[in-house]
Amino acid sequence: MPADFPSSRAAIAGCGDAAPDARVRTGVPRLKTLLIVFHSRTGGARQMAEAAAHGASTGDVNVRLLRAADAGADDLLQADGYIFVMPENLAAIAGVMKDFFDRTYYAALERINGRAYALLVCAGSDGTNAVRQTERICTGWRLRRAAESLIVCTHAQTPEKILAAKSIGEEDLQRCADTGAALAAGLALGVF
Ligand SMILES: Cc1cc2nc3c(=O)[nH]c(=O)nc-3n(C[C@H](O)[C@H](O)[C@H](O)COP(=O)(O)O)c2cc1C
Repeated sequence: MPADFPSSRAAIAGCGDAAPDARVRTGVPRLKTLLIVFHSRTGGARQMAEAAAHGASTGDVNVRLLRAADAGADDLLQADGYIFVMPENLAAIAGVMKDFFDRTYYAALERINGRAYALLVCAGSDGTNAVRQTERICTGWRLRRAAESLIVCTHAQTPEKILAAKSIGEEDLQRCADTGAALAAGLALGVF
């Protein structure tokens, strides 16, 4: 994992566990929370997750950006909507992300029904199996897919290219940001 990414649970300004939301104290309805869980080994999915978080950071929802290794069932239960971001590895959900789903699936089952989600997959050449597997997990959770699942292809198909640090293009980052913005708007407006 690149050193420039903070391991903090409050990577997006204003999204921590520390201070209670002033709106709760003043009786104004609480801001909804969009949780973005990601795993990335060579930076591609991380950039996609950060772009989604940036797009969602309009001030109308709380945005929490967590690494899959740091995220747990409580994080899912406390959020109102989700974006899952991961690479496809060996024609499957990348292992660390799969571990997140394995650790949280039964603790969250029947407790997050109907909540909205979106899915962003970073792939070297395909990505469709990671999408299919994650959508099945989310169907099991009775989540509602709120946006088209998105695959960003890094065209990494040789060992050298697969192991190299990734740089996601502006157009693809914008698609990720648009997904974040759409989820945030839907949550804020009460559509989801
Ligand atoms: C062990 C391994 C297996 C991979 N298998 C696939 C695969 O099945 N399909 C695919 O499209 N890309 C595959 N890739 C390529 C990654 O998805 C691609 O490098 C992606 O950019 C990684 O995301 P990251 O930069 O966020 O780590 C594989 C990469 C690794 C390291």
